[in-house]
Amino acid sequence: MNLRSRNNSIGFVPTMGALHKGHVHLIERARSNNTVILSIFVNPKQFAPGEDYNRYPRYIEKDKVIATDSGVDILFLPSTDEIYPEGYKTFVNVEGITDLLCGRFRPGHFKGVATVVLKLFNIVMPHRAYFGEKDYQQMLVIKSMVRDLNLDIEIFGIPIVRDDDGLAMSSRNVYLGREERVSATSLNRALKVSREMVKSGEMNAQKIISEMERIIKKGDGIEIDYISLCNPETLEDIKIVDTRVLVAMAVRIGGKRLIDNCIVEVK
Ligand code: PAJ
Repeated sequence: MNLRSRNNSIGFVPTMGALHKGHVHLIERARSNNTVILSIFVNPKQFAPGEDYNRYPRYIEKDKVIATDSGVDILFLPSTDEIYPEGYKTFVNVEGITDLLCGRFRPGHFKGVATVVLKLFNIVMPHRAYFGEKDYQQMLVIKSMVRDLNLDIEIFGIPIVRDDDGLAMSSRNVYLGREERVSATSLNRALKVSREMVKSGEMNAQKIISEMERIIKKGDGIEIDYISLCNPETLEDIKIVDTRVLVAMAVRIGGKRLIDNCIVEVK
């Protein structure tokens, strides 16, 4: 079957499965004007040794039901051998932005992401692809790769879907115990405070970061990898908030790593 030659627009949603409402939102956006292909592949190359590759939640039967119910037309479930046959040696390295934020704490992670996404693009050959702003840096890396390598694919960024308590949906949230889950709500609270501080005229990035740290550190067993106020295009830290800014953070709760972010506009 050659979908491309049938004048169809193909919308692609790459995932690692353990599907939740965040993924479903991407599917719904893709559905509005495309034939939708969803991939589920837990990509070993984006996990560093010691990270959670082996434990990563895999609920394939449940995922198939969610995919069907949310209107996915084609589900693509490649095996690891299909994606990385023996002797595999080619990688995609997007320079610069991959060294910042999460890149500082997860060396090689974005190289694994860019590599698998390019491979999936080449297999699926979509016209459009949908990525969550939850993984803002990842979305930026993919946009850079698409531009730099002249890929004929339109990339759409989709806003973060949150649970009722404000926690950003993530496949990894299943790792959290009850109390950890409560602590995790401090991430969104800290983001809200950053927005309020900017709104009320605070321009000093460090002051905003300190206040966010104070809010997050109230929870037990929380370690902060980073909180950054940075340029939403280059991800470079900013000191004075006088323009549109990305507030991004990564936090470990009982060793489980969570990320969250928001864009703050200066009026
Ligand atoms: P995964 O974590 O499964 O996420 C798949 C897509 O869903 C990503 O684009 C991610 O940003 C988006 N997403 C996750 N949680 C979301 C939320 N709460 N709201 C909106 N979108 C959300 O990201 C990956 O997989 C992988 O790195 C992948 C791109 C598939 C490459 O292996």
